[in-house]
Amino acid sequence: MKVVTQASEMMAALAEHGRPRVLVPTMGALHQGHLALIHRAHVLAGTQGTVVVSLFVNPIQFDRAEDLAAYPRPQEADLAACRGAGVGVVFAPEAAAMYAADRSVTVQETQLSRSLCGAARPGHFDGVCTVVLKLFLLSGCEMAVFGEKDFQQLAVIRRMVRDLNVPVTLISHPTVREADGLAMSSRNVRLSAAQRADAPRLRQALLAAQAAFQAGTRTPTDLLAVVRQVIGVSGLLRVDYLSLVDAESLESVERIERPALLATAVFYGDVRLIDHIRLQP
Ligand code: PAJ
Repeated sequence: MKVVTQASEMMAALAEHGRPRVLVPTMGALHQGHLALIHRAHVLAGTQGTVVVSLFVNPIQFDRAEDLAAYPRPQEADLAACRGAGVGVVFAPEAAAMYAADRSVTVQETQLSRSLCGAARPGHFDGVCTVVLKLFLLSGCEMAVFGEKDFQQLAVIRRMVRDLNVPVTLISHPTVREADGLAMSSRNVRLSAAQRADAPRLRQALLAAQAAFQAGTRTPTDLLAVVRQVIGVSGLLRVDYLSLVDAESLESVERIERPALLATAVFYGDVRLIDHIRLQP
């Protein structure tokens, strides 16, 4: 496995490896969710191709300095996990290697990023688009794998690829969960024992709303009330947003006539967790 820390060294490192190149962009602190993406990348790359994983805590997508500072960075464990997963090339740059001090060009998405996490985290998706485009260009990948857990991120990146004619095929992978239903996240390790025990409530609330939907409840107000009932019992979390949006436009809906998403973000202390569920009429 080749570990590259400088953008300028990527081309030489990749030249020794076959195609197709399949990229899995991550911010490290790898868990089973990331590993599932890497496994998927292997299947896509086949015997001749190369799996490229980036480990980079992208400073320009963080809206809160304390979140950036607290983000876990277990580099040795991440490299060992990549080695164990048969990754061909790891790209793990320092922030200075990615961003010139006087950088002045960014990618901006102005539609899909207005709601949900985008509304709560100004500039976040522009930071994501900018780094993902850079990673696509640096890796020269034909394919890239993203998790459905971050469905708004996936939608925004799909839009970027479409609107800028980026020659990369996007592959999405379902959310990987703990046995108790909590979506795996690098931020879960920052939960206290009590918060961790409470956190599966998020998934339970969404499942309760999905069950109500399947039983005929159709109005957003009633469905959101079901979610609030389950998460409202917890004294440990604070709701950041709770929305019912169209699965394509990500805009709020008044009636569910097309596939929709029930999406939420909550804070346990300063740890922010997201989850969502699909409602299919
Ligand atoms: P990160 O949060 O490290 O996630 C990297 C990739 O893993 C994303 O595509 C994300 O959706 C996926 N992922 C995370 N948890 C998952 C889970 N439980 N199940 C399935 N997939 C999961 O997302 C980012 O990093 C960054 O924004 C990035 C795209 C790397 C740009 O900086």
